[in-house]
Amino acid sequence: MLFNEPHPLETRVLTRRFGKPDTAAIEGYLADDGYQGFLKAAKMTPEQIIEQVKISNLRGRGGAGFPTGMKWSFVPRTSPKPKYIVVNGDESEPGTCKDRVLIENDPHQLIEGVLIAGLAVDAHAGYVYIRGEYRYLIDVMDKAIAEAYAKGWLGKNIQGTGFDFDLYTHTGAGAYECGEESALLESLEGKRGIPRIRPPFPAVAGAFQCPTILNNVETFCAVPYILREGGQAFADLGIPKAGGTKMTCLTGHVNRPGVYELKLGFPVKQMIEEVGGGMRNGKKLKAFIPGGSSCPVLTASELEGANMDYDSMAARKTMLGSGGVIIMDEDTCMVKAALRIMRFYAHESCGWCIPCREGTTWLKKILTRFHEGQGTRTDINLIGDIAKNMLGRTFCPLGDAAAMPTISIVEKFRDEFEDHLNGKPCAYEPAGVVTV
Ligand SMILES: Cc1cc2nc3c(=O)[nH]c(=O)nc-3n(C[C@H](O)[C@H](O)[C@H](O)COP(=O)(O)O)c2cc1C
Repeated sequence: MLFNEPHPLETRVLTRRFGKPDTAAIEGYLADDGYQGFLKAAKMTPEQIIEQVKISNLRGRGGAGFPTGMKWSFVPRTSPKPKYIVVNGDESEPGTCKDRVLIENDPHQLIEGVLIAGLAVDAHAGYVYIRGEYRYLIDVMDKAIAEAYAKGWLGKNIQGTGFDFDLYTHTGAGAYECGEESALLESLEGKRGIPRIRPPFPAVAGAFQCPTILNNVETFCAVPYILREGGQAFADLGIPKAGGTKMTCLTGHVNRPGVYELKLGFPVKQMIEEVGGGMRNGKKLKAFIPGGSSCPVLTASELEGANMDYDSMAARKTMLGSGGVIIMDEDTCMVKAALRIMRFYAHESCGWCIPCREGTTWLKKILTRFHEGQGTRTDINLIGDIAKNMLGRTFCPLGDAAAMPTISIVEKFRDEFEDHLNGKPCAYEPAGVVTV
């Protein structure tokens, strides 16, 4: 089973069933409080359900951290159109690998979260959109959905509540852009995955132009606990304004990389040293990305007193993002890191908006020649200028996602760019390190 051993500093709420026998099967789920949150919600009004989600201070776990209860309250429940629930299981943000463990180990928790969302906005159908490379998860999800139908937890008149709900899986084709909510909806409708102009937002005109709740896998997985134990219990796990735990993917140069469920507000230093087992080979920390490669990079000194939460990261002009932490040690060449990141975005830009399509390709070219030792001093400013000109000039934030880490690397590690002008492309890397 794909998950690390529990760490004593973890707070296992969403992952509490992981490792127990039958955790992915409906019998295991039902034996362990499964679907109790749904049964409770079925006796509540939609307003009461949404109120509990608001009280919980749950914020979207897909990257933007938007308050979930507020998002649900935007859905016009009285609209005559059908409403839909869409699960974002695209998980393409580099450094992020948490949604897959949630689906693989406990798919019924996700189904229960979706059902509760359905009750909250009077939706009767939903889709779980899973990235193409996660083919095996489609099988896990399909099996769980079939079990839920067979045991009366999906379909007509669920458990005698009078509530009907149908759930389907839908596979992406491995495009990062299809994780962006509006491109995902286009893809779900069978069209090319390009972003939509907003407003209107999905809550008003989402799947098939109907009101839609679209949330990340982890967001939905938190909902059964909130309804079962009460919104306040979830809020109390975290910090003011951000309740609960965060699935945190520790990747990069630590001794114990893995996916850990940590309370929101967990101290970064303790996370690296105690949860991650410290820096690999006793090296020093050079750079830290808190929530996937789209986030601005922090230096070791900026991490002083930092916590894994939205405000602490915002105060440092970066983001908690998806919780995909990337840790880079002193042997990392930051020019190469910027290049690696840009190669990804240039490949994944959907090509719809010119600043993103041209900007990422242009930056990739400059960073490539720079890393190979053929950069010029003017290139350093040019990299920053191009990136800044991409910010806010695209229909979706993919352009920003490519620009933000680049700007931060050029600003914070300018000396490494200067050093690359001295004919030593990678003085930062020890001999034998494989280059890009
Ligand atoms: C280029 C791009 C890729 C994204 N990829 C994902 C993704 O893989 N999974 C995800 O949940 N959100 C992703 N997002 C964020 C979604 O657009 C959206 O904000 C999120 O799914 C909303 O759910 P939440 O409120 O539960 O976080 C992406 C955004 C952008 C701009």
